[in-house]
Amino acid sequence: MPSIYYESFGCQMNAYDTEVISSLLGSEGFGRADSPEEADIIIVNTCSVREKAEQRAIGRLNDLSRYSGAILAVCGCMAQRMGEKLFESVPGLDVVAGTDTYFELAGSIRDALEKKQRTSMTAVDGKITYSLIDGRSPGGVTRYLSITRGCENYCSYCIVPYVRGRVRSKEPETIVREASEMVSAGAREITLLGQNVMAYRYGDLDFPRLIRRMIDETEVRRLRFLTTHPRDLDMEIFQLMATEDRLCPHLHLPFQSGSDRILSLMRRGYTRDNYMSAINEARNILPELAVTTDVIVGFPTESNEDFLQTLSMVEQCRFEAAFTFKYSPRHGTSAALSEDDVPAEAKKERLSRLNETVQRIRLEILERQLGTDSEILLDDTVKKGEYRFGKGRTNHFRNVLVPETEREPGDIFRVRLEKLRKFTFIGKEI
Ligand code: 5AD
Ligand code: SF4
Repeated sequence: MPSIYYESFGCQMNAYDTEVISSLLGSEGFGRADSPEEADIIIVNTCSVREKAEQRAIGRLNDLSRYSGAILAVCGCMAQRMGEKLFESVPGLDVVAGTDTYFELAGSIRDALEKKQRTSMTAVDGKITYSLIDGRSPGGVTRYLSITRGCENYCSYCIVPYVRGRVRSKEPETIVREASEMVSAGAREITLLGQNVMAYRYGDLDFPRLIRRMIDETEVRRLRFLTTHPRDLDMEIFQLMATEDRLCPHLHLPFQSGSDRILSLMRRGYTRDNYMSAINEARNILPELAVTTDVIVGFPTESNEDFLQTLSMVEQCRFEAAFTFKYSPRHGTSAALSEDDVPAEAKKERLSRLNETVQRIRLEILERQLGTDSEILLDDTVKKGEYRFGKGRTNHFRNVLVPETEREPGDIFRVRLEKLRKFTFIGKEI
């Protein structure tokens, strides 16, 4: 049985897709290899969100092709965006499989294995959704599960609509079936994924109603979701968080920029005030809600004043954490038609100032939790010499280490948050 080694770059949706591809190819008779050295085939799932992500993937693909005789396939967003051009960037490449072509992947891998034939597939179907094949759900305490594919917000900087197509929602029965299988295979926490989960709609089933079904029809102990767009925020979800302790009180809500002028150029469809009112409304329903976000610095024409607005937004909204990025022009997006005119030095400086502010506030929020109790889900144990400790997360998604615990991954129990080491709590079981 030929075996495949998988590597996944990019977001959680890519991590889920990699599992789907593995389950699809598993059902076609391909096994799984633990390292590239042992593999007959290597599949790299790639991201296009920033240029650096693509450069890293191309570098890695070339390394893999140099020291391995395996068949080399690339899939995901960069495969979709670049198509056969990737054969020039990666001479050792055999298969390029765009985001809507995974059902044909087994055939093109066989062509590569048997006939040394190269294939590039980038046709766009626009309707395909993927799900894990029955009985092929890998184990793991925390799992991802995509409920939508694609995005049609067309934020001016973003490549996603071009590489993943329009939004489509998966049938609720399929989602419940996948979740139940994950639970049977050991999952205790599932994160529902989509570019914008609140845009989920299947017939008259919307996102809050899907969550309701997941709570009622599956045994999963904890539910999370990623990611949301401020324009589609549905306050009902916070009511559900307030009443259902299986739905974790955490919201990831990218704001991208604190300047209304930049937000409008980004075509985000909300103002700074809209965003802040939404957060306030959510916190009125659920005061303990943990909010995380994404921010871009150095969007074309961003002035120092615009940037200061972004900083003040972080101060005012008090984010628990933020993923921060330097703007990267993506060919084909409308922002890429404007000159990338913020100098590299200014982007770097703004990013580091932003990160300082984010980390200071993060620390303030975490320090306020010291001495309190929290439920954690242990997802890993680490051994260092004689010393064994557990790693887990609170329902607010805060990191906790539990020294010298007998607990096993999958266990849920209460701890007292006793100390902070950087951004990680040291917890003691109570
Ligand atoms: N440049 C920089 N960051 C980007 N993101 C999306 N597109 C770009 C780009 N062209 C960021 C956004 C998004 C996160 C996943 O990546 O902040 O929320
Ligand atoms: Fe990267 Fe976006 Fe594709 Fe995820 S959807 S892999 S973040 S380009």
